[in-house]
Amino acid sequence: MTFKLSELLDQRHGENFELHAQYINPQLTKVVKTLGFDRFYVRGEGCYLYDEEGKRYLDMLSGFGVFALGRSHPVIKDALHQAIDADLPNMAQIDCALLPGLLAEQLVTRSPVQIERVFFCNSGAEAVEASIKFARASTKRSRILYNSHAYHGLTMGALALNGSSDFKSGFGPLLPGATEVPFGDLDALKKELKKGDVAAFIVEPIQGKGVYELEKEQWLALEAAVHAAGALFICDEVQTGLGRTGAFYAFEHYGLSPDIITISKALSGGFIPVGAMLTSDKVYRSVYSSMERALVHSTTFKGNQMAMVAGLATLSVFDDDHIVEHANAMGFVWRKKLEELARRHEFLHVIRGRGQMIGLVFGAPTSAGAKRRYRAIEAARTAMFSQTLVVPLFHRYGILTQVAADNVNVIKLLPPLIAGEEEIDIFVSALDELLTDAEKNSAWLVEFGVTMAKGAFKKTRKSSSSTRAPS
Ligand SMILES: Cc1ncc(COP(=O)(O)O)c(C=O)c1O
Repeated sequence: MTFKLSELLDQRHGENFELHAQYINPQLTKVVKTLGFDRFYVRGEGCYLYDEEGKRYLDMLSGFGVFALGRSHPVIKDALHQAIDADLPNMAQIDCALLPGLLAEQLVTRSPVQIERVFFCNSGAEAVEASIKFARASTKRSRILYNSHAYHGLTMGALALNGSSDFKSGFGPLLPGATEVPFGDLDALKKELKKGDVAAFIVEPIQGKGVYELEKEQWLALEAAVHAAGALFICDEVQTGLGRTGAFYAFEHYGLSPDIITISKALSGGFIPVGAMLTSDKVYRSVYSSMERALVHSTTFKGNQMAMVAGLATLSVFDDDHIVEHANAMGFVWRKKLEELARRHEFLHVIRGRGQMIGLVFGAPTSAGAKRRYRAIEAARTAMFSQTLVVPLFHRYGILTQVAADNVNVIKLLPPLIAGEEEIDIFVSALDELLTDAEKNSAWLVEFGVTMAKGAFKKTRKSSSSTRAPS
């Protein structure tokens, strides 16, 4: 008996949506169909997806940040083929395999001096869960502070640190003592820290939900307050880490010195799930304090050698192809071209983000006609305008984007880090055309926005946005 993947795919071609509706998530199936995003993708390569008709889609989501090196990267593929063919002694478990050690060494070498140890796991949320446990064990305190708009994953601990009630609703009670602090509010942070029971403050150096940023001085003051209170400063770099913002870690832009770092997405090479929590020897020893406690925090797949190979191969491509430097350079190109667009288009207000993590903030225009149309769309549903652009970007121009968060008119771009000026130009000229059209004659826009708000999402709650996703 052999297993033929190509035969299976051929035999069952076209059943995707039926299978999902029947066995996985019928609601998601409906959302995808309603948006008209129901394509049968057959191939992914670099910055592009291809459907069964050969149509090409520019991927400005990169699997929520997973495809830093683009899809089907030849070096990662080759590394994984090598690993499979080598019949590696994977997960002997009562063992210390070489590959996890090598990847940990690579990660520690790329981290600030206080970072000395690595805990491997399978996802971003799992890395965050580890950070909560290690912070509690190390400080012998229980409370974790997090920011408004925060997103750290959807497992129970990480969910408690989520800045959106939509995600939390119906799942309580969550982790006791998890407390939200308004993003950038030093006084509010100090007030909580003063209580003396805070184990850690967890932050995303640039927030994924909405692409919110702070100034360097603000970050340094927040971090100093945390350290002065004897608490730990956790930088969640699951999305921003590994070059996304034009530095290996986003906290480098602000000169921060985290006690704990979490990473995941890009380390996978786009193939094998992996997560990691990095911290100091001191924090580590508070958990693994004796031989009896050597596995007190663990997970079966922690040193999965396929994931380790994907991680090592990814980092080697980062070095060989100067991926971080490229992402940084492209950040300046994005900014220049988008700011030029914002000067010409009254719907486009502000450009946020760094490197290849961009937030396009839309808002009410000034001219009377356009303002009226904008209001009509927003009256149908809060922050509907950006959703109204995401759909034609996909249909007319074959560009996959997402709305950055609930109730904010922000489109987020997370292209593969390898995306270059060609991809930037494709996006910028499509948006330029779309906004020109919307300003001149946005009857289509109003009709489309209102119809979508009323029809597609009337059964969901008014505040939830359609392509909003857990990333
Ligand atoms: C900053 C941040 N932390 C944690 C997570 C959770 O990662 P995962 O979806 O792999 O559990 C995400 C996911 O988008 C994230 O952006």
